[in-house]
Amino acid sequence: MSKQIKIRRTTVPQIAARKGAEPIVSLTSYHAHTAAIVDKYADFILVGDSLGMVMHGMESTVGVPLELMIMHGQAVVRGTEKSLIVVDMPFGTYEESPGVAFRNAAKIMKETQCGAVKLEGGARMAETIRFLTERGIPVMAHIGLTPQSSHVMGGFKTQGRDEDGWALIEADAQAVAEAGAFAVVLEGMVEPLAARITKQIPIPTIGIGASAECDGQILVLEDMLGLNEWTPKFVKVYGDLGPAIERAVSQYADEVKDRSFPSEDQVYR
Ligand code: KIV
Repeated sequence: MSKQIKIRRTTVPQIAARKGAEPIVSLTSYHAHTAAIVDKYADFILVGDSLGMVMHGMESTVGVPLELMIMHGQAVVRGTEKSLIVVDMPFGTYEESPGVAFRNAAKIMKETQCGAVKLEGGARMAETIRFLTERGIPVMAHIGLTPQSSHVMGGFKTQGRDEDGWALIEADAQAVAEAGAFAVVLEGMVEPLAARITKQIPIPTIGIGASAECDGQILVLEDMLGLNEWTPKFVKVYGDLGPAIERAVSQYADEVKDRSFPSEDQVYR
């Protein structure tokens, strides 16, 4: 007897169908509690490997292990019910061969129950993207500024400042679309190039530091909430959580020290 499964989350085909239509809203999230809030407004939530830098104080995303992505992926899936959850494949888990990529992507999907994975790289990753999508793993691609390659790129540098480099980036976008990616993140890219790519390819482009010309936008949640001391120049900061947390912590510290801490409320009854 077959069982009807009710799909509640935004699906990969629904995101793909938003090409040129209503802009796609997305944010990163790494925890169940923030994800539950983001879930009300986002079409998809990315469990980005930026968590290595944002949450774990690493200098780059290169050191992020697969197990960490899986643990945060599980937390975000548990905290949400509506958005598509996409989990980043960390550096070293997919570049070697399509077979290695499949094994690790399948592990991420089985253990987190996420709906898709994201990996960095354009034409050089096309064979792997095709291999995964033909075997049931939806892939979001990521081109332009690819933080996992920051050591090769010499840092986090805006791409396409020199028009001579556009053709290669456009070829990357074509290659991932042809290979079967359902969407592609365009990171750190000049506006006219992001606009050209968005017009050229049939899948949604998701911009981060790549202008409003894209089919959707993503930001790192902690950046837009004002939680990080440093944020990239392109990020609009919508909240002031850093200072708000500091105010709360310093008030608590003062109350503990001068014994004005509200002891009645703090006793288990
Ligand atoms: O890891 C991440 O948060 C990302 C976004 C910046 C797109 O890849």
